[in-house]
Amino acid sequence: MIRVAFYGAGQVSTNTAAILRSRDGFTVDGPFDRGKRDEALRSAADVVVIATTSFLAAIADDVRDAVDAGSNVITTAEEAAQPWANDAATADRLDALARERGVTILGAGLNPGFAFDALVLTATGVVADVESLLVRRVVDLAGFGDTVLRRIGVAHSPESFEEGRRSGAVTGHIGFPQSMQVVAGRLGVTIERIDRELEPIFAESELPASSLTVRAGETAGFRQRYRAFADGRPWFEAEFTGHVAPRALGLEPLDAIDVRSAGGDVHLEARPGLDPQRSSAAVVANSIRRVVDAAPGWTTVADLPPAVPA
Ligand SMILES: NC(=O)c1ccc[n+]([C@@H]2O[C@H](COP(=O)([O-])OP(=O)(O)OC[C@H]3O[C@@H](n4cnc5c(N)ncnc54)[C@H](OP(=O)(O)O)[C@@H]3O)[C@@H](O)[C@H]2O)c1
Repeated sequence: MIRVAFYGAGQVSTNTAAILRSRDGFTVDGPFDRGKRDEALRSAADVVVIATTSFLAAIADDVRDAVDAGSNVITTAEEAAQPWANDAATADRLDALARERGVTILGAGLNPGFAFDALVLTATGVVADVESLLVRRVVDLAGFGDTVLRRIGVAHSPESFEEGRRSGAVTGHIGFPQSMQVVAGRLGVTIERIDRELEPIFAESELPASSLTVRAGETAGFRQRYRAFADGRPWFEAEFTGHVAPRALGLEPLDAIDVRSAGGDVHLEARPGLDPQRSSAAVVANSIRRVVDAAPGWTTVADLPPAVPA
């Protein structure tokens, strides 16, 4: 029996806990909110899932406490998918603590954790060499909670989006540099720099989402482009269009991967694209056993077997 405790009582924890409760072989504690922090983080469960925020700095002490109590940790914080891309000192410190305690830390989810990294690496398995990569997603954001939506850039006036983009309060979707570094690390490529763009998409009419309503003239979504350079040329391009009603723009949700190779290109496509809520919860639930079985330390999806529903 694997005991799993959840910290953060939002969508991901609730959905993932429901999946595990429906399976044999798991005992589930929580989800616990901020007021019951220690019941999750000090539980000494086999695995603690931390699904609270996106930022490494904000989860570092939570990861430390869970690891210190002897638990493996899976966190959906996007910056945790490759923590060295953000803060090598924090990553090294927690990696060392995990090794000392004999447990594993993993940043997991759909994106990062699958669509822009694990699946991309799998796709490179059928070519003899990789010249460059292009990964595109069109994502229906309507099912996200309001905190996440506002932070990524939805339901803002033009001024508030611009001010948030400048101050860092509006982030767009987080995790592209992390995914790119995960893929680069596995393929032995050194990324020289990553260029990034974030553009608003405004609503022409009122658009209801599950947790808020976007008014006409506010941001209904955004376009992001990340371009990682290696050997002086674009090596990995990522395009992400997120919108609360993509079909209103004439866009179908989509996941597409192009692997450009001297020996012949490969194109993989999922239509409709992967559902953000369902897929993220599934990846986290399907990561419990691989994290329990993994070598100690802070690992990434590049170093683990695929997530499978077991
Ligand atoms: N890697 C991926 O693919 C992936 C997939 C899904 C989600 N995520 C990320 O995972 C996080 C959780 O997602 P979600 O959809 O579950 O969000 P959510 O529905 O907004 O839930 C977040 C929960 O965590 C709590 N929380 C927020 N900040 C906290 C903190 N610093 N300490 C303790 N509790 C805190 C919130 O409580 P309050 O209401 O009290 O603030 C809320 O209960 C988000 O940052 C999201 O971007 C990543």
